[in-house]
Amino acid sequence: MKPVRKAVLPVAGLGTRFLPATKAMPKEMLTVVDRPVLQYVVDEAIEAGIEQFVFVTGRNKGVIEDHFDMAFELEDTLERRGKDDALATLKRELPAAGTVSFTRQQAPLGLGHAVWCARHLVGDEPFALLLPDVIIKNEKGALAQMMDVYGNHGGNVIAVEEVPEDQTHQYGVVEVEDAGSAGNVYSVTGMVEKPPQGSAPSNLIITGRYILQPSIFALLEKQETGAGGEIQITDAMLRLMKDEGFKGLKFDGTTYDCGSKIGFLSANVAYGLDREDLGAPFRKAIADLLG
Ligand code: G1P
Repeated sequence: MKPVRKAVLPVAGLGTRFLPATKAMPKEMLTVVDRPVLQYVVDEAIEAGIEQFVFVTGRNKGVIEDHFDMAFELEDTLERRGKDDALATLKRELPAAGTVSFTRQQAPLGLGHAVWCARHLVGDEPFALLLPDVIIKNEKGALAQMMDVYGNHGGNVIAVEEVPEDQTHQYGVVEVEDAGSAGNVYSVTGMVEKPPQGSAPSNLIITGRYILQPSIFALLEKQETGAGGEIQITDAMLRLMKDEGFKGLKFDGTTYDCGSKIGFLSANVAYGLDREDLGAPFRKAIADLLG
């Protein structure tokens, strides 16, 4: 079984739900407390053992490259001013040289197309796919939990969670065999992207974390469009499932969909309350607000 060393992060989306904040700034750079949303997802991947990152970007996303580069003038200024803590944070979080790559999705043809754009940078290796709208809060990250499942079963692994039935039409939905004694690891037997209300096979949705075999690229190559007229990763996975195993892990953790305003605001509250340096005064500020 080949190890999973690379991660693909599609960051080409326009972020129209957050205009005007995202007119000139990528939505992935919106901050939860004092870190960009994207940084939480990269941290989750590093914790899971990922060594190389492939960002699929688009126009107006240059700031993301700058964020993962060394900011020489900034570091120099912090050093001269004796701001040691801030400097140490920047140094600690700087990715090693050559471990971060960027390619562009030239047109918004769908998530499946964005992933396909990374094919040459991934090559013939299994890879993790993380959708940076979604951050998952847990002591052991969701991708690290999925790596354990991959270590036991190989093949392909997707993160799944239950949502209320009236929300399934917003997601990819899986059909599974009963997990039985396996507990939270299901064999996936079907998948459908954004099923019309009332037609979903279950209330288990795909949560934006995947471990995929490189054979997915040949299927994406066919570029058939699906839900919303877009090339969907879910459709390619369904075809891949006919030949290869697919496990669904009901992971431990709380999901914040930072692509929605409520999810984004909730993430700020949850992570803010959890911070050692901010938790107590923030709790008081919220209590005062709630009166
Ligand atoms: C994408 C996937 C979908 C998944 C969702 C998770 O949809 O296509 O299968 O359930 O992410 O957030 P999107 O949110 O890009 O419409």
